[in-house]
Order: sequence, then C-alpha cells, then structure tokens
Amino acid sequence: MDINGKTRTCGLIGRPVEHTLSPVIHNTLAGLTGHDMVYVPFDVEPGGLQDAVRGAYALQILGLNVTVPYKSEVIDCLQEIDMLAQKIGAVNTLVRTAGGYKGYNTDMEGLYRAMISEGVRIAGEQIILLGAGGAARAVAHLCALKGAGKIYLLNRTLDRAGQVAEEVNRAAGREVVRPLRLTEYHEIPAGRYLAIQGTSVGLAPHDDEVILSDKAFYEKIHTGFDLIYNPWETGFMRLVKSCGGRAYNGLKMLLYQGIIAYELWNDISVPEETAQIVYRKLMAHFERS
Ligand code: ATR
Repeated sequence: MDINGKTRTCGLIGRPVEHTLSPVIHNTLAGLTGHDMVYVPFDVEPGGLQDAVRGAYALQILGLNVTVPYKSEVIDCLQEIDMLAQKIGAVNTLVRTAGGYKGYNTDMEGLYRAMISEGVRIAGEQIILLGAGGAARAVAHLCALKGAGKIYLLNRTLDRAGQVAEEVNRAAGREVVRPLRLTEYHEIPAGRYLAIQGTSVGLAPHDDEVILSDKAFYEKIHTGFDLIYNPWETGFMRLVKSCGGRAYNGLKMLLYQGIIAYELWNDISVPEETAQIVYRKLMAHFERS
C-alpha cells in the first residue's frame, strides 16, 4: 500500500472495533481495483458519535461503515437516508455527498447477494426466522421485501417477535410474518423451509450453545443460513446438515455487505471474480486467527 497526498480514507466507526475483518475486505479491494484508498477502524467512545461523523466529514473522509452499537443512533447524524435503511431503522454505511453523509444498509443487500451466490432464493419461500433483535428484524424486512411466501418468526420473548411482525406486516401491506414463541416451534406447519438464524446463540466463545436442539425441527429445513461466522460452523449449521439440509455461515454476508459499501464509495461494480479473491483472503485470515 502506497499512501500519498491524494489517498482517500474510508473507515469503520463502532465500539469495539479491534476484531473487525472489514479492513481485510476494503484494503484488498483497493489493491485489486486500483483505487488509491485506505480503510481504517475508528473506536468511538459513548457520546462521541455526532462529533465523530462531523469530524469525518470535515476530514474529507469518503465513506464509513458503522457497527455496533451505533447503527440506529447514527441516523440522526445523516444528511439523507436510503429507503431500505429507513425501513429497517439501521444504517451500516455512510456515503459522502454534498453537505453531509447519506446512510445505507448494506447488511441486508449483502445477505441477499450471499444467498444468490449460494443459489438460495427468498421469493415464494416458506421461511423460519430465529430471533427478533436488530439483526433478525432487518432480515424479516428483507424477506418480506423480496417476496417471501410466509415467515415464521420464532423468538424467546414473544412480545418482541410480535412487535417485529406488526412492523414488517404494516410495511409490507400483507400478513407475511407470523410471530411465535421459541418453544412453540412445533406449531410451524409440515413443509420444507429456508431457515435463517439471527440470534446471538452459538456465537464464540459459546460455540456449543444452540438455539433449538430437537431434530424434528431441523428435519423441516432444506437450507439453513446462520448470520454468525465465528465459529465457522455453528451448532445450528451442524444440526441442519445432520438432518440432510444445506447450511451456510455469515461470512459471505460480511463479504458482500463490504463489497456493496465499496461499490457505493467508489461508484463502481465489483466483478464476481474479484469478490471471490476477497472471500479467499477472508477465509485465510480466519484460518490464521
Ligand atoms: P442483535 O442486534 O445482534 O440482533 P439483540 O438485539 O440483542 O442483538 O438480539 C439478540 C437476539 O438473540 C434476540 O432475538 C434474543 O432473544 P430475546 O428477544 O428473547 O432476548 C436472542 N437471544 C439471545 N440469547 C438467547 C438465548 N440464550 N436463548 C434464546 N434467544 C436468545
């Protein structure tokens, strides 16, 4: 990397940011696409978000990713917001425009592109979604938007599932989400489902924890997507596979959310072969850590 007087800066704001893989994605992309750009993580202290975004703009920073815990709070710091991000209520990418930043949510488009690259479709599918937190809520919006047939939303706390269902159904203009308590999973009608695991259960270092362990539940699943990528294979994925389904972790979602952000910042389209090189680099990074 040759940093000079014309090098543009992009970065990540969040807390903590030490373990982020985003610099691997963006600095590799800059090298492969020949953009004079560098990407660095910025740790933002509680209460410092407004100053951080204003300062970034003053410093001519081209774009920022936003991670936990600022994905909702950052909305107040924007000049403009993309429609999907507004619907979801979470922003993970800021793009420099005249007068301020425009906010996008590339997490969801990233998940969608990851699914497409694995040959998994949402339109017309019967879907089981596990969780009703920030991540799962966004997935529910994505699935409704992309034409899911029905979404069974399972969550430990029924109230939260109910709130997400109401919000998504209102936005979609149809009764697409049915909320259920996690323990009521047997109420899901017999059939073959695409299942998306959007809770934090099974995230390292709690690799052995799994959201549900009844094989009867997993027998209904033809494809399982876990949003977690650390560990590489979660208990949820193992159970899906042991019952004959295909299972994927969240690393491709991470890859594509980064690629879409990079495309927005640099106004280009990243070819699939380039995406695959970055993916291999991410995997190598993973194997080393
Ligand atoms: P995120 O923004 O990453 O989605 P979150 O908003 O804290 O994080 O949501 C975490 C999700 O994991 C929720 O759906 C939570 O269920 P509750 O709404 O009942 O809290 C779910 N979750 C976390 N720990 C869990 C556990 N031990 N068993 C079942 N669900 C769990």
